[in-house]
Amino acid sequence: MTIFAANWKMHHGPATGRDLVRAVLARVRPREDRTLLFFPPAPTLPAVAAEVAGRRDAAAGTQNVYWEAKGAFTGEVSVGIAAEAGATWVLIGHSERRHKFGEADEETGKKVRAVLGAGLSPMLCVGEKLEERKAGETEAVVLRQLAAGLQGLDAAAIARVVIAYEPVWAIGTGVNATPQDAAAVHRCIREWLRARTPAGTRSRILYGGSVSPSNAAALLAEEELDGVLVGGASLEVESWAAICETPRPAR
Ligand code: PGA
Repeated sequence: MTIFAANWKMHHGPATGRDLVRAVLARVRPREDRTLLFFPPAPTLPAVAAEVAGRRDAAAGTQNVYWEAKGAFTGEVSVGIAAEAGATWVLIGHSERRHKFGEADEETGKKVRAVLGAGLSPMLCVGEKLEERKAGETEAVVLRQLAAGLQGLDAAAIARVVIAYEPVWAIGTGVNATPQDAAAVHRCIREWLRARTPAGTRSRILYGGSVSPSNAAALLAEEELDGVLVGGASLEVESWAAICETPRPAR
């Protein structure tokens, strides 16, 4: 199963979001081995959810949640509200949340637990900054973020979390990690997860960071990648449909 996840960030209101999903789904026919996820801005969620409702291979998610169920938290969205608006998935700890909005490791853990507790699917994003990679700290940073994001979960719960490895230096820069470099970090993440999930579990690990129609095939040729999380190239029908149609080598 390959997951193609579109992170629209702060793009597309309900009208253009609906049109985009409709056009993409008309182009990309359902396949048993493919899941299409759309992460629009929160107010666009109901429009996107309505479009994916008729497709078993597609789902909608939100880009962030707050862990409390309700209360005086102006500007925040609870898991329950996101679910009511049509989200079945939630992005957690995206690098822009961490580095532009100061989201701390511990907060990602609270969010993952809230999302799982509500029966939704969390996608936990991890990734190192350029200076951390240059300093040889990639593995340490990624495993620290994983440990914090998955803190307090039992093995069965950890197995439900999808991981998105997104090196910060590759996001929105046009410079993707090489397929080999991405796969190497995925192996390290997988090894860490394997020790903490039920025997035989294959955790799902996506790569994100400047994925485009021109590099998707090379990235997805790596067996380590269970999919891609895509920002810029998911904002238009042509490029997103092309990525979602990326063939994978037979195994
Ligand atoms: P990008 O963003 O594809 O524009 O690099 C990826 C992401 O932030 O999820």
